[in-house]
Amino acid sequence: MSNAGCRQPARRGKGPEACDADIQVDDRCPDTIEITIFVAALCRARPGWRRVPPLGTKPDTRTVTAMTSIRSIKGFKDILPGEAALWQSIEKTATEVLGAFGFREIRLPILEKTELFARSIGEATDIVEKEMYTFTDRSGDLLTLRPEATAAVVRAYLQHKIYAQDPVQKYYTIGPMFRRERPQKGRYRQFYQINAEIFGVGSPYADVQLIVMLVDLLERLGVTDAQPHVNSLGCPACRPDFRRALLDFLAAREERLCADCLRRRETNPLRILDCKVPGCREATRDAPALSRFLCAECRSHFDILQGALDALGIAYLIDNRLVRGLDYYSRTTFEIQTSALGAQSAVAGGGRYDGLMKTLGGPDIPATGFAIGFDRLAEIVAAGKGTEIPGPLVFIAALGAEAQARAFPWLAALNRSGIWADMLFEDKSLKSQMKRAGKLGARKVLIIGENELAANTGQLRDMTTREQVPVSLDRAVEELRRHLGADG
Ligand code: HAM
Repeated sequence: MSNAGCRQPARRGKGPEACDADIQVDDRCPDTIEITIFVAALCRARPGWRRVPPLGTKPDTRTVTAMTSIRSIKGFKDILPGEAALWQSIEKTATEVLGAFGFREIRLPILEKTELFARSIGEATDIVEKEMYTFTDRSGDLLTLRPEATAAVVRAYLQHKIYAQDPVQKYYTIGPMFRRERPQKGRYRQFYQINAEIFGVGSPYADVQLIVMLVDLLERLGVTDAQPHVNSLGCPACRPDFRRALLDFLAAREERLCADCLRRRETNPLRILDCKVPGCREATRDAPALSRFLCAECRSHFDILQGALDALGIAYLIDNRLVRGLDYYSRTTFEIQTSALGAQSAVAGGGRYDGLMKTLGGPDIPATGFAIGFDRLAEIVAAGKGTEIPGPLVFIAALGAEAQARAFPWLAALNRSGIWADMLFEDKSLKSQMKRAGKLGARKVLIIGENELAANTGQLRDMTTREQVPVSLDRAVEELRRHLGADG
């Protein structure tokens, strides 16, 4: 922020006169505000000190608001250590599965030009119309916090002309996305996705491979009620016929549609099939099915997909209403739905987007992919097995300065060899050190007090069985490693 136009705040002296200082508040000068807050705090802390109101024209009400505690933004959540441990284990399993299917990681910026999302996701989608976090930066560029990753992965593939060396690429990327939706369980404004994309393969087997990979990952994570829903949205050759048939069908039912669907009728009538408003669902119950309008190529693509899923024994549901909320899809769309999350039933969604490369100015290269909602997946996995917070393998309860000085190098050596060991850096009683070890969930505690130092032998207590074994203090690190099963 520029300080142009900011009058320097003058804070004179350290005593009560600091409160009487000539504080000039200027909205453009953050330093001034900081000093005002500081003075206000001083005045509150010392009875009798007086704060002179700022010389500006407005009363300084910000002082009061700024002192209240700051909370996170609505729809943005913290992932605290217990949950983060679960996220790490899900991510580890996911990267193993993705690696086995031949996907390599790509890491991309969180901020992109707004035009990228407007052109790919579609101007008339909910995401682009009302959910993006878009702003103009200092040089006047219109930028957006990515609401999804697919457009950015395609942008990178085109920008670096990766297709020129080898058009067939399999990428995955994991990270935060931003959509200003109405927050509720399973729906956040900052959420995380695991994205997988296959470029350069038009075959339905690529779509099937994505579904198999999703099913495999969910199985490994213990998600038992995941059901794939599949559909075909046709292609630019056959979809216009369906669109016309749908509009004819809707013409007689206009008055039963919600305001959003009336608008969608002009911009994106297929989305009406996906509307969750009960009146709209009822009005479109007998709408024509897209599958009846597929051209020969799209029909064959969808048949091969179903045949391959059948051959693999993967149960799926054909869902004619699965149109998805992004405009770039053609042919296959799919979602993995579960009953675990109530209204937010889709834990993953994706499909084929053969036209997107061209829309973004690249060559005509087919593509298909999916994104898993990481937050939703973590909630389902946590509900299945609970969040287990691991504790240190050993806690060193060193009593007194001499024991602390002796034990600290052992702690450092254990930590540096990859063993989670912990101790208190304060001289506390054995009782409070044991309490701390219990709170951390330590598996074992090494106790060293005056007697143990004199005998040059510590006591290693198992926190579950309460059994104690002697540990020579001259070889403490080696012996601890042996007892912890970490010396192999
Ligand atoms: P999407 O269906 O918009 O597709 O999002 C994929 C998944 O992200 C959803 O199934 C859901 O689990 C999760 N998700 C979406 N919005 C939220 C939210 N507000 N809070 C929590 N989780 C959410 C896409 O994003 C496409 N880019 C997928 C794709 C990749 N298609 C082809 N390649």
